[in-house]
Amino acid sequence: MNEQLPGRPTSHSRVTLSRIMTAIDVNLYGTVHGGVLMKFVDDVAGASAARHSGGTAVTAAIDEIVFVEPVRVGDLVHAYAQVNWTGSSSMEVGVKVVAERWDVVPNEPVTVATAYLVFVAVDVSGHPRGVPPVLPENVEDERRFREALIRREHRLARRAAIQRARAEEEKAE
Ligand SMILES: CC(C)(COP(=O)(O)OP(=O)(O)OC[C@H]1O[C@@H](n2cnc3c(N)ncnc32)[C@H](O)[C@@H]1OP(=O)(O)O)[C@@H](O)C(=O)NCCC(=O)NCCS
Repeated sequence: MNEQLPGRPTSHSRVTLSRIMTAIDVNLYGTVHGGVLMKFVDDVAGASAARHSGGTAVTAAIDEIVFVEPVRVGDLVHAYAQVNWTGSSSMEVGVKVVAERWDVVPNEPVTVATAYLVFVAVDVSGHPRGVPPVLPENVEDERRFREALIRREHRLARRAAIQRARAEEEKAE
């Protein structure tokens, strides 16, 4: 699907989104709601996928999201995204979220979340369209590419295992 498209370096897809967390972002415990960060992650990843693929891309799956540290009101939060891996029409986008604490000096950025999402590039009818292959530019990019393949293999293997288990259950009924 993407054989004819020239590749794009990883750096082309790098996007950063920043914002200060406010009182409307909090959960009952007074820290920032995980769902607020999930939307933030999806937004930055979507912008990265759109930039790499040169058009609309939709979230197909979230492979993993890990919340490492709580985020608080007043923190300046930055989300960094880049395309780690590309298939024919799908892309894995990696996201790292860091917070600068408003009340800590010096306010060294703290990693608060990491995530891996799968986006699919779509045409105006919503059908998958080809994406340019991503071209890793350094050893870190190459590591991310390899690890994205591991996540993909695990995702496909898990899906196949669940389908086999369901088929067995149906046969037994
Ligand atoms: C994502 C979507 C376009 C895929 O359409 P589809 O017809 O099922 O696509 P196909 O089966 O032909 O697969 C196309 C690609 O998507 C990938 N894909 C499809 N579903 C996937 C999933 N759940 N997880 C990861 N990858 C997925 C396939 O692996 C394939 O990748 P490749 O082209 O790189 O090999 C379609 O399922 C969709 O529109 N989903 C809703 C997306 C959306 O609205 N997201 C916003 C949240 S509301």
